[in-house]
Amino acid sequence: MVNNLNYIGGRWSEGSTGNRYEHFNPANPSESLGFTEMSSLGDAEEAVKVANTAFADWKNRSSVERGEYLRKAADLLEANVEEIAACATKEMGKRIVEMRGEVLRAATILRYYAQEGTRKIGDVIPSSNPNNTLYTVREPLGVVAMITPWNFPVAIPVWKIAPALVYGNTVVWKPSQETAITAVKIAEIFEKAGLPKGVLNLVNGSGSLIGNAFVEHLDVKAVSFTGSNAVGKTIASKAVETGKKYQLELGGKNPLVVLKDADLDAAAKAAVEGCMKQSGQRCTATSRVFVEEAIYDAFMDKVLGFVQDIKVGDGIQEAITMGPVASKNQFETVTSYIKKGLEEGATLFYGGKTLDAPEYNGGYFIEPTIFENVTNDMTIAQEEIFGPVFVVIKVANYEEGLAQANDTIYGLSASLFTTDLNKAFHFAKNSEVGLVQINGETGGAEPQAPFGGMKESSSGTREQGTAAMEFFTAYKTVTITTK
Ligand code: SIN
Repeated sequence: MVNNLNYIGGRWSEGSTGNRYEHFNPANPSESLGFTEMSSLGDAEEAVKVANTAFADWKNRSSVERGEYLRKAADLLEANVEEIAACATKEMGKRIVEMRGEVLRAATILRYYAQEGTRKIGDVIPSSNPNNTLYTVREPLGVVAMITPWNFPVAIPVWKIAPALVYGNTVVWKPSQETAITAVKIAEIFEKAGLPKGVLNLVNGSGSLIGNAFVEHLDVKAVSFTGSNAVGKTIASKAVETGKKYQLELGGKNPLVVLKDADLDAAAKAAVEGCMKQSGQRCTATSRVFVEEAIYDAFMDKVLGFVQDIKVGDGIQEAITMGPVASKNQFETVTSYIKKGLEEGATLFYGGKTLDAPEYNGGYFIEPTIFENVTNDMTIAQEEIFGPVFVVIKVANYEEGLAQANDTIYGLSASLFTTDLNKAFHFAKNSEVGLVQINGETGGAEPQAPFGGMKESSSGTREQGTAAMEFFTAYKTVTITTK
């Protein structure tokens, strides 16, 4: 049993529904990690109430002071990297090596936003009246809600919480149930950093109850969500009904286009790693690879070389290069897509099987899987699989590659491998995505740069960098007239 699951108003408590949720290690599902007690509507209500009360003081502190708490939290994350990384690896299967990287990345994000606390939050604007001083300031919104996913259980909550706090908001946070225990560790870090009571409140529980309560609450002024398109659509309509800002980061079906003039080694490595890192469970994972037919066979030879090197197993071991998928649910979804691909007539270039030998302990392991003989209208080329699977499609030339890359409802990230500068710039301009890579993997983000997608991958808002200020603050325009 995991006690003290919620952190509300600076006090740790259990959820109060009486319903328990059992956590399993996806690399060995017979290993129970314990139960967590689900929270009730009363817990959500209490969290919003204390966050609202704490806002009065927090918004009046200087942003420099608010940033200092983030800096302390960064130091504490670094000091506790092993414990937090191991906890998340057990909870959702991400390799320990990747989890360490994620925790350290979260520390970098905290430091970036700590520094934002020392930067300008407004502009002086010329007025048509010489006696006026006209300027803007950015003010916090109030209580803001975060609903965060399991695939980046540390970095995504931190990249939402850090800017919200430094710009003077208070936070109510509902993480994914799958990573409730890791979320407790993150809240403990903020507590140890000395964050005043009520400024950050963690309520674990179900999305349909707790997430929904936050989205519908009139005292919550904004909601930031990363997750599925279906849930995102519901959040958007409820946010509009209750008059709050919303920010949605949703799915992707990210293309990587390889031209005949490209460095094929680099392109093949980026395709394999861009998909298989985190067992494909990233919104920015590479999932469609378009290859000019002139170099198709040479490229696929190189892909084979990289994919054969992947060592699947329990990611708590350093030597493993691909872990399990995060849960039984993920396992069933991914394997059903593999089945669907075969039914639709695609052929397996590599993998496709689940790993059932005794040394896999019944874990949710799927071979790295690559499909060929795919057309861009097949289900596996259009729907987000969120697993270690990508499809390869032959194209006649760059123009066809670009057209097919854009032929999707999603628009998160896209990559082109080429040495032709003209095509590189053309792709950057004409690719219908929020994140373009030339000669790089589709995945990845830096804290100082805006992150987000176009089309159905996002609500059009952006996270990270100074774009976060756009979302977590409101403009106030001030005119002072003097004689
Ligand atoms: C994601 O892809 O889910 C987050 C972005 C990243 O760091 O790759």
